[in-house]
Order: sequence, then C-alpha cells, then structure tokens
Amino acid sequence: MGRTVYVNGAYVDEADAKVSIFDRAFLFGDGVYEVTSVIDHELVDADAHVERLDRSLRELGMAWPCTPDELVAMHSELIARNDIDEGVVYMQVTRGEAERDFHFPADTPTSLVAFTQKRGLLDNPKAETGVKVVSMPDIRWQRRDIKSTALLAQVLGKQAAVENDAYEGWMIEDGHVTEGTSSSAYIVKDGTVITRPLSNAILPGVTRRTIVQLMAETDVTLDERLFTIEEAYAADEAFLTSASTFVLPIVDIDGRLIGGGKPGPVARRLRDIYIQEARRSST
Ligand code: PDD
Repeated sequence: MGRTVYVNGAYVDEADAKVSIFDRAFLFGDGVYEVTSVIDHELVDADAHVERLDRSLRELGMAWPCTPDELVAMHSELIARNDIDEGVVYMQVTRGEAERDFHFPADTPTSLVAFTQKRGLLDNPKAETGVKVVSMPDIRWQRRDIKSTALLAQVLGKQAAVENDAYEGWMIEDGHVTEGTSSSAYIVKDGTVITRPLSNAILPGVTRRTIVQLMAETDVTLDERLFTIEEAYAADEAFLTSASTFVLPIVDIDGRLIGGGKPGPVARRLRDIYIQEARRSST
C-alpha cells in the first residue's frame, strides 16, 4: 500500500490511480494547480489557495470540478488518510479528457486529482545555512499570473540551477528579476524589503501575500518595485518564499556572497513570524 490519492471523486491507492492519455493537461499542459502546505496536520492559507485557484480557472475559462468547500474537505481527508503532520498537498484541475484538438472541447467535465507529500517544513536545515541562487533569462509565456501546469521553462531553469550547484534560479527579463523558478524573489537594502509588484509577469504567491501583510505589522518597510540582478548582488540580504519552503534566506547569487554568506536578520525574522502566523491560523 502506497499513499492514498484522490482521482475524480475517488480515494485510491497511488498504484491504482489512473488518468487518461487524452487528458488535456497531459497533451497540452491545459491545467492549473495549487500546492498548499500542511503544518500540525492542518492546511496553511487554504482560503488564499482557493481564491487563487478560482482566479486561474476563470482566466482559462475552466469550470470548478467541485465546490470550494468540497475541495478543502478533500484536502483534509487526504491529510487524515495519509497521516500528514508536515508536508504539502498538490492538486490540479485539468480541462478534462477529450479527442485531441486545440480548441476547448464542448461539454467535457474538468478533471481533479490530488496527492500528499510528507516532508519536514519547519526544521529546514536550509533556513539555517541559506541557499544559493543562479540567474537565467526568463523564457516563459506572458501569463505567469496563472498557476498553469505548463512548467517546462521552470523545469529547465531549476535543472540549470541544480547543475550549477544552486537551489533556485532567478529569472531575468528586460534586465530585471521576475521571480524564482518556483518561488517569489526579494532583496533587502537598508532595512527595506524590495520585491517586484504583482502583474502578469509573476505568480501572485500566497506566501508573498501573507508576508506582505505580516510585514505591515513590523518596522520592516516594503518597496514593491522592479530590481536588477546587480542590485541583488549589492543587497544586504536576499530571500525567497513559497508554500513549500515558507521563507528561505539566500546567501549566494551567481557566486557573489550576500550578507557575508550568512542568513540575514530580516529573512530570519520574517521566517519566524510567518511560521508563528501559519501555526496560529491553519485550518
Ligand atoms: N511554486 N512563483 C512561482 C513561479 C512559483 O511556482 C511559486 C510556487 C511561487 C510562490 O507561490 P506560493 O507562495 O503561493 O507557493 C512563486 C509551488 C510551490 C510549486 O510549484 O511547487
């Protein structure tokens, strides 16, 4: 017996979970997804993930496969059945199974699958050491605000990072950092956190949203503006956020040490207050 996963209304063993080769996510990347973290057996920021999923579905003209409440209940059921104390729930909605043709199929129900990944999130050694980042051109499409399953550019970017002994790739467009291959990007200069404003150029990170809200309650100021990789090299600190890593300090960008190669106080503090808030508000 492996994990229990969810496929279109059924909870099944992962070995028995099957989707069609005609599924449009398989053929076209025609699907959207969410990754929600789990702490203490509870979902973190579930409402914000539901909201972003709703937006992704609307932008692509896809119908909800169930109600938002049913989606959250399904997540909780997977957490319980797989005894996930810490980890993530991955879910994706696709435009469903249809004869291969580019335009949207008529009267085809969307498909919903989900699975859990058990992993330690709170005691992450990378939060203590910090991580290394390399920069690369952003070769993605123009609608990065949609959380689409079409992730080939990010797969290539992450692979290039790993081959360069780095944890993450920061993508650059018109001389400015957009974001990480699977995380939001920030630098810190003179006590101010700088991050790119939301637009079609980046994914609206759920963790970014919470961090921005929490920052308003501290003396850390926020400047939402574009920044260059050269500014990042000269920053006091740098960090990244995502649902599966929370806040991770960055100590090296393209071989230049940031903050003397040690995690900085702003990133450390934001990680602490994020985790505190996540534990307090998880559902
Ligand atoms: N990635 N930007 C990109 C391109 C991402 O893929 C992600 C998340 C983020 C951060 O978003 P959030 O805080 O909502 O996780 C930013 C997820 C974790 C993934 O694909 O696994």
